[in-house]
Amino acid sequence: MDLSGRIVLVTGGARGIGAKVSEAVCKSGAKLVLSDILKEEGLEKVRELSEKGYQASFIKHDVTSETSWGQVIEFCSKTYNGLDVLVNNAGIYFSKPLVEISLEDWKTMFSVNVEGVFLGTKLASEEIKKRSMKSEISGSIINLSSVAGLVGAPFIGPYNASKGAVRIFSKGCAMEFASLGYNIRVNSVHPGVIDTNMGDEVKQHLINQTELNSNEATSQLADLHPIGRLGLPEEVANVIVFLASNKSSFITGAELVVDGGYTAR
Ligand SMILES: NC(=O)c1ccc[n+]([C@@H]2O[C@H](COP(=O)([O-])OP(=O)(O)OC[C@H]3O[C@@H](n4cnc5c(N)ncnc54)[C@H](O)[C@@H]3O)[C@@H](O)[C@H]2O)c1
Repeated sequence: MDLSGRIVLVTGGARGIGAKVSEAVCKSGAKLVLSDILKEEGLEKVRELSEKGYQASFIKHDVTSETSWGQVIEFCSKTYNGLDVLVNNAGIYFSKPLVEISLEDWKTMFSVNVEGVFLGTKLASEEIKKRSMKSEISGSIINLSSVAGLVGAPFIGPYNASKGAVRIFSKGCAMEFASLGYNIRVNSVHPGVIDTNMGDEVKQHLINQTELNSNEATSQLADLHPIGRLGLPEEVANVIVFLASNKSSFITGAELVVDGGYTAR
């Protein structure tokens, strides 16, 4: 899948799924802007990619801040002269019984997972359309939802709600951009449990709620996926590169599961 000459912004790119997406888009020929709230880890990732000969730049970014988003879009414009693809990947997770969840907890979850995606889609679409409306190749916005945006699970009500919001927001934007002739596709991606820091948080929660040891908890999480294991961040990255590329030119408003069969039964 060729992304030659395409300018791609990946939020939360310092580690986990975002780091693998960053690597994968570079390998496909894109120019990368990697943003994250974690400055040291983000700079290190970009250093690693630059040493391999890829065009990659880092900017510190808090996706909950409109000002920060404005600076990131301006950085894309100044560094590479525009933007073609946005991967709204930055996200947070927590798990608690509903009665213990405060309004502040709920707002924190929504500020990153939902408001971050709203601000990014709003501001980036204005930049992306400057190029996409003059191009045969569409711009692409890819939003990280989750299987938790499709089916419920205990103790993660705010996470379920935030990822459900991302799913339907993506469809709404896909319809709006198509009707306005922006030539920007918008899709959501729905991973199962993936082996990252966030995957570790999911496992730790299971350990806290049960008598399971670490290996038993991994095995119980693996059993949620008919393929029989957790997903790898690169397996999500492959799907994101496909949605970024012109190979997915007739796909918009879609929800792509990358879940080892989790939601199929
Ligand atoms: N790992 C999983 O099991 C899983 C499953 C389904 C969906 N997802 C989703 O995939 C995405 C990536 O998850 P991951 O597993 O790589 O998680 P992760 O915790 O390993 O990485 C998340 C990244 O987002 C960044 N981030 C967090 N808050 C931010 C903010 N306010 N501004 C900018 N950056 C911020 C973090 O610094 C980190 O680099 C998330 O949206 C997550 O909800 C993950």
